[in-house]
Amino acid sequence: RQGRITPSDIRSRKGTEPVVCLTAYTTPMAQLVDQSCDLVLVGDSVGMVLHGLPSTVGVTIEMMILHGQAVARGLSHACMVVDMPFGSYEEGPAQAFRNAARIMAETGSQAVKLEGGAHMAETVRFLVQRGIPVMAHVGLTPQSVNTLGGYKVQGRGADGDRVLADAAALADAGAFAVVLEKLPAELGERITRDIPVPTIGIGAGVDCDGQVLVVDDMLGQFAGFRPKFVKRYAELGETAQQAIANYASDVRTRRFPGPEHIFTESKKA
Ligand code: KIV
Ligand code: NA
Repeated sequence: RQGRITPSDIRSRKGTEPVVCLTAYTTPMAQLVDQSCDLVLVGDSVGMVLHGLPSTVGVTIEMMILHGQAVARGLSHACMVVDMPFGSYEEGPAQAFRNAARIMAETGSQAVKLEGGAHMAETVRFLVQRGIPVMAHVGLTPQSVNTLGGYKVQGRGADGDRVLADAAALADAGAFAVVLEKLPAELGERITRDIPVPTIGIGAGVDCDGQVLVVDDMLGQFAGFRPKFVKRYAELGETAQQAIANYASDVRTRRFPGPEHIFTESKKA
């Protein structure tokens, strides 16, 4: 496929082929995911995955901009979305616009994502009306881990109606897609059927309009936690650990550097 995928293209995918999404935080990872993905998210999960933070609450707008700039240099195909970090949009529409505009301007991202249900609809509408495409994020919203009391499945039983109402309010406010995180698969299917924009699931079942994972999780690179919804497509962490151990052993036994890695007085070698 030629040309850059836009937020409008993503929106038009409702009811057609699944939307493929992964995160990226660096230029080389952006280059790796660009052609296979429709959408690449510079997630605030970067705080936990690359910076060792205990949650996403400590992620700053400066971190998102720095990683957003790195990712932008590696993408030419996929639609790029940057997460608004905790504290950068919750005060109200004006604060959200100011920070979203800064993220868009300084990273070249095509859209932002923010967490929260119906209470964020007014902010989403304000941003979209002023030229900022917004991806919404409902269900488990990790920035609220301290009020949610952990990373639990959301929307079970009667609470499902509340999550559905959240997703519907955000779609109505103009969000071009809605991330559904950690919901019963039945609810993921119901929300997908009910709202007019694509649902992008992470732990929300196979019926969502698309799927997203943290790339380091699916590559087996992040040892932090192993949520049930992650399928490991590789074990890069184990591969790297083994390679590093082999290097250490080679240095200690003087097997490295070998003849092919050295320079000598005669130039031909
Ligand atoms: O920060 C992130 O990586 C995310 C996705 C997992 C949806 O928000
Ligand atoms: Na996030």
